[in-house]
Amino acid sequence: MEAVHEAQRSIADRAGAVEVAMVLGSGLGDYANRLEEAVAIPYAEIPHMPVSGVSGHAGNLVVGTWADKRVAAMQGRAHLYEGCSPHEVVFGVRLMASLGAKTLIVTNAAGGISSELAPGDLMAITDQLNLTGTSSLIGPIDGREGERFVDMSAAFDPALVEAASEVAKALGFELRRGVYAGLLGPAYETPAEVRMLASLGADAVGMSTVLEVLAARHLGLRVAGISCISNLAAGIAKGPLSHAEVKETAGRVRSRFEALLSGLLESM
Ligand code: HPA
Repeated sequence: MEAVHEAQRSIADRAGAVEVAMVLGSGLGDYANRLEEAVAIPYAEIPHMPVSGVSGHAGNLVVGTWADKRVAAMQGRAHLYEGCSPHEVVFGVRLMASLGAKTLIVTNAAGGISSELAPGDLMAITDQLNLTGTSSLIGPIDGREGERFVDMSAAFDPALVEAASEVAKALGFELRRGVYAGLLGPAYETPAEVRMLASLGADAVGMSTVLEVLAARHLGLRVAGISCISNLAAGIAKGPLSHAEVKETAGRVRSRFEALLSGLLESM
């Protein structure tokens, strides 16, 4: 809590108050450049903010305006597989909440498991499986921030899923829906693991997001999640998986993804 406040105080002059927080995943960070009157604050200038070393993650907190809303957008995130603790992984989300954000839009690149999904699809996350083996809510908590036992029965706001679907329809494409499974990584899954995930009810799989959603729900934020299906999951895909493919697909759907986020902000 103290660390978050120290970070918040150090950027308050540059950031101002925000209403909406965003985390932009692998290859999706360029969306922040659409924000108006934007200020980019490098993570390295924010006390306690973990810096991601993954390519495709720029490492700036961009604060700007869209549709009369003040938005803070993280260009890239820290991951458990980089050796970050669960608390470090969600530091940025807690920071954006301390700036006033009441809504969080999380985005990621994910492998498609469901036969309904194809690379290049965008999927509204309707629920999640936290399979990281840990939680961002372990350890002492500050009762002023939120409850010890957090209700996760509607973690992804159904009204935001509907709103995003309407925006997609108006843009001329169908927003898929599904359950996102978040794993530790950093290896991609084996085909056997993907079959297991399918039997558990996962539609898409990735290595992020789930801890951020736990932190956001703990803080009482409304959450929307958008996955960019960057590849078919292992065993479903014909060949090997690669980060280059993930970034390539994210680049291909960029204009659609950005239009969806803009429309979602306008609808809020
Ligand atoms: N598995 C896990 N994480 C991912 C994948 C995947 O297939 N694609 C993008 N991130």
